[in-house]
Amino acid sequence: MYPEQQTVLHSWCKQSEWSAPTIVGGEGAWLHAEDGRRILDMSSLAECSNLGHQHPHVIAAIRRQAEQLCFVNSAWGARPRAQLAEMLLERSGFEGGRVFFTLAGADANENAVKFARQASGQPRGKIITRDRSYHGASYATMALSGDTRTRHQVSPDDFGVIHVPPPYAYRCPFDSRTPQECGERSARCVADLIDERGSEQIAAVMMEPNAGTNGIVAPHSYWPALRTHTLERGVYLIADEVMSGFGRCGEWFAWQRYGEAGRPDLMTLAKGLTGAHVPLGAVVLSSRISQRLEHEMLYTGLTYCGHPLACAAGIAAIEAYEREDLIARSRALGAQLLQRLCGLQAKHPVIGDVRGGDGLFAVVELVRDRSSREPLSSWPEVHPALRRLVKSALDRDVSFAFRGNLILLAPPLVIQEKELQDALSLLDELLVEMKI
Ligand SMILES: Cc1ncc(COP(=O)(O)O)c(C=O)c1O
Repeated sequence: MYPEQQTVLHSWCKQSEWSAPTIVGGEGAWLHAEDGRRILDMSSLAECSNLGHQHPHVIAAIRRQAEQLCFVNSAWGARPRAQLAEMLLERSGFEGGRVFFTLAGADANENAVKFARQASGQPRGKIITRDRSYHGASYATMALSGDTRTRHQVSPDDFGVIHVPPPYAYRCPFDSRTPQECGERSARCVADLIDERGSEQIAAVMMEPNAGTNGIVAPHSYWPALRTHTLERGVYLIADEVMSGFGRCGEWFAWQRYGEAGRPDLMTLAKGLTGAHVPLGAVVLSSRISQRLEHEMLYTGLTYCGHPLACAAGIAAIEAYEREDLIARSRALGAQLLQRLCGLQAKHPVIGDVRGGDGLFAVVELVRDRSSREPLSSWPEVHPALRRLVKSALDRDVSFAFRGNLILLAPPLVIQEKELQDALSLLDELLVEMKI
């Protein structure tokens, strides 16, 4: 029995099934458990500890800020808040834009929707998102998410949300022959929906630009096409970079892989923003939207928005990404990860698809039968064999994330090459032993 097993209500699980070691520390890609075990983290916890655990530069910054000033709300100025906003605008090239700080990813997305609606002059305008997306677990973001697990709790309609099919190249809803075609057709479908409803009815399109939390990795043709269609129709595009940002996709922000052709009107951040050392989220607004809001009352914000302690952690996190060249490192190791996973795919028929790899993010999709592509379990159920595999890995001190019939690989960007290769060798061994 673990100490919190009977007292804490844990998220995203059945309480009766929760059972996990207590973590008391960490270093680099490793978590340190109370019983002395060291566990290699192959998912950056919830794809958030991009800098690894207990990054010394971030911890020192939090300590310094705590000694000087823990908190003032946004009725007052705070130096770290000003500095972090400047750094984010600079890294993203949103010259003349503004940053709204939030507590995490869900409220960043909710606020991005509010800003898009206000700036478009359609306070109740529709928001287009896609199936198999994830934007958070507050009511509004559950409605935004194309996530069947929570659909019984909230109706997208009540929140003015319309879902479109995802750019899921392996199982393309548009019967495409190639990933490129799938990306183009998926983007075209958004354009058609805007045309059908009338662009004046649509306040914004919100999407994860590439790596998706629920396992979709959009083909490269998708995001630039989406940007072109939305620009042509005068509809705002919101990039949810909560998971894909801060090096996860090999750039600061995933849309930057397409240069200016990928620039959204708003983007939302969290997770890697502080490397998860303390909670913080943000909405970055283009100058066009900021100007529209300049003289309007903003009826939004939570008490702790722009918390100085969290902003100090954000500044130090950005410095650490830069000093250690972690964005380029993510690109290099991501290529290795993809290559190795493709090798595993050639060897293990249970692997139907491997996607990602622009940075340290990849998805392995498991199937019962490679020729029919029948999934190992129907989404979002998890097959007992996959549960057993993940449990065996943990017994051997490696933690893999899984969702439905997917294994998600998103280790901290500081992971050592050998640690990554060893974890993949273990995965190889466990796939050999896997019994369906
Ligand atoms: C793409 C994406 N958006 C939003 C969220 C919600 O962020 P948070 O859990 O910090 O509210 C997540 C979290 O997993 C995410 O992956």
